[in-house]
Amino acid sequence: MTKTMRSMAVLAATVCLAGSMGFAESGEAIYKANCQSCHGSTGTPSAGIAKMMGVKPAAEYKTTEKEQIESVKNGKGKMKAFAGKLTDEQIKDVVTYFRTLK
Ligand code: HEC
Repeated sequence: MTKTMRSMAVLAATVCLAGSMGFAESGEAIYKANCQSCHGSTGTPSAGIAKMMGVKPAAEYKTTEKEQIESVKNGKGKMKAFAGKLTDEQIKDVVTYFRTLK
């Protein structure tokens, strides 16, 4: 009985840990799947994309988090709208991640 309870506690702790790690990574995962092709893996686009699309390095966007969320939702310039493709929560997470890129 005690042994079962101990292994259940270990299991619960493992699930919690995995869950919180997954959450912390979700912005990055969304970025890699949806944004990297234009914005580059580190937030700096390749020279070709930068020229063709008019994408600047992430840190050069001086817009606020709220404005960036709107841009990602509704699209801006050659960036298409992500509303409908990503949930509001995913857009918020990925913009949070985008804003950590230099
Ligand atoms: C098809 C290429 C493309 C993809 C994919 C793309 N972007 Fe963009 N993004 C752009 C371009 C081009 C601009 C510059 C728009 C402008 O200023 O005219 C931009 C601008 C931005 C800006 C600045 C907007 C502002 O208001 O200052 C943010 C933030 C951004 N992108 C985040 C993202 C995120 C997050 C994703 C993934 C969910 C993403 N982008 C996917 C091309 C893309």
